[in-house]
Amino acid sequence: MTTAILGQVLTYRAQPFEEDPVSAAHVEPRGAVIVEDGVIVATGPADSLLPHYPQATVQDMGRHLILPGFIDAHVHYPQTRMIASWGKRLIDWLNSYTFPEEMRFSDPAYARAVADSYLALTRAHGTTTVCSYCTIHPESVDAFFAAARDSGQRMLAGKTCMDRNAPEELRDTPQSAYDDSKALLTRWHGVDRLSYVITPRFSPTSTPDQLAALGALWAEHPDCLMQTHLSEQTEEISWVKSLFPEARDYLDTYEEHGLLGANGLYGHAIHLEPREKDRLKEVGAALVHCPTSNTFIGSGLFDMAGLMTAGQRVGLATDTGGGSSFSMLRTMAAAYEIGQLRGTPLHAAQLLWLATAGSAASLGLDDKIGRIAPGMEADLIALDLSSTMAIAQRSACADDIWEAVFPTIMMGDDRAVAEVWIAGRATA
Ligand code: GUN
Ligand code: ZN
Repeated sequence: MTTAILGQVLTYRAQPFEEDPVSAAHVEPRGAVIVEDGVIVATGPADSLLPHYPQATVQDMGRHLILPGFIDAHVHYPQTRMIASWGKRLIDWLNSYTFPEEMRFSDPAYARAVADSYLALTRAHGTTTVCSYCTIHPESVDAFFAAARDSGQRMLAGKTCMDRNAPEELRDTPQSAYDDSKALLTRWHGVDRLSYVITPRFSPTSTPDQLAALGALWAEHPDCLMQTHLSEQTEEISWVKSLFPEARDYLDTYEEHGLLGANGLYGHAIHLEPREKDRLKEVGAALVHCPTSNTFIGSGLFDMAGLMTAGQRVGLATDTGGGSSFSMLRTMAAAYEIGQLRGTPLHAAQLLWLATAGSAASLGLDDKIGRIAPGMEADLIALDLSSTMAIAQRSACADDIWEAVFPTIMMGDDRAVAEVWIAGRATA
């Protein structure tokens, strides 16, 4: 089965933080993406490509922008039903809203219902892959992976481990965190398009023994990713200092327990010390920027431009439900606004790269997803660049493609997502 998807096709010749973003990106105005058996086999100008694929079924998306599905590198799917909860900072927000909701996931039917609704919501917003925290309950991981297997999406997730500073019903132990994580990893890692991620929530909710147990598990499975939170809010950093008085800094609480490495994903990372920045770069770890969360919970302004220029690997994420949106368009808009507040506005080509190839690279999946190129899995979306009256009147007077795209980044939502293909299969 061969499909030819036609539209304005976005590809990258280079990483748009390493050279001029406009010359790093390429938009083929009448482009084609040829897909066979869920994989991209060719891309280029439609006129020259189509004659080579006379058997292809053509799906003509007109002037819509064809790009890889968005990749959300840090989410909490169990927080779907408490997104947009008012008025708290991180620690109070966790205790007031997050933990009570996460307790519900001991019920497998509840977990499955939320997983299905989360995947439907994010697909409607053009997100084809996420890396999710689950809850303390193994059932919450089974529910998420079962839902992802049914939808055919490439997905990453792990059991959130906590053995202190959380309600009794949400606490495991060093041993049960190790055992449950290992059993889930064995059950799901590498099954279909699924990857297990070792997931200590953050240092305040894990004893040193639990961090060490998960560090040992990671050492046994170094190909797995490990995800956690780092230096999100100043009160949290002071708390970590008091809980780990011997540690050189927040990152050291992970490093000391075998939880720092190239396959490590550190969410937020706003208030980093110079040693932490150097060490993260030295080991090749990835940071994940969660801009709507950082403004919503009042955490601070991530230094995207500075870290990218220094060669740090960074992915982009909603951090649902600390983040206030399911949309990677809204997330790019917030990243742009934070860049503005820091005096370093990001270009549309950089924002779209972060939401696709950049996030894929942060997850170590850049050989599979996040780019339109032969051999890549065909998770694709078509963006309508005139999806609302407000956007259409602005893009109608754009002088070039970037001016036409930027209003959709700043003002677009799920109405802009005209089609989503999962492994080449249209879902809309
Ligand atoms: N730090 C520890 N847990 C969480 C969480 O669920 N959300 C956010 N934003 N930060 C955290
Ligand atoms: Zn988070």
